[in-house]
Amino acid sequence: MAIFKIVTKEDPVLRRKAKAVAKVDERIQKLMDNMAETMAQAKGVGLAAPQVGISKRVIVVNVGDQLYAIANPEIVEHSGIQDGPEGCLSCPGMAGQVRRAQRIRLEGFDRNGDRISIDAEGYLARAFQHEIDHLNGVLFIDKATEVAYDA
Ligand code: CO
Repeated sequence: MAIFKIVTKEDPVLRRKAKAVAKVDERIQKLMDNMAETMAQAKGVGLAAPQVGISKRVIVVNVGDQLYAIANPEIVEHSGIQDGPEGCLSCPGMAGQVRRAQRIRLEGFDRNGDRISIDAEGYLARAFQHEIDHLNGVLFIDKATEVAYDA
């Protein structure tokens, strides 16, 4: 396992549209494992590969119940609205209110390369939406109202 350096919002990699993963091979599995380790050490609830300088469509999310590591995640259904606070490991010290869908259905590929479908709501749905935005070059500060520095 290894800990990546997390890039911050000035880094252009965060503004790129990340490339789809062709196959979940050993390299992608290692990327997922190291991203999970990096997220845990940073006490984050989610991390997207561009945040560690790798422009690939891979995310990890853990809001406390279980670890999700997903390649090529895609939101295929969404409903409802939630407003709530967000921060980002790439925007240290910043927080803001972001409107998100309350419920989503996400499809993608797990660490074994198996196709998966996940129904999520509330905070977990928020975390997935935030991380998938990263794969499209979008940061929460683009969408947030009342952005504030807590430092
Ligand atoms: Co983020």
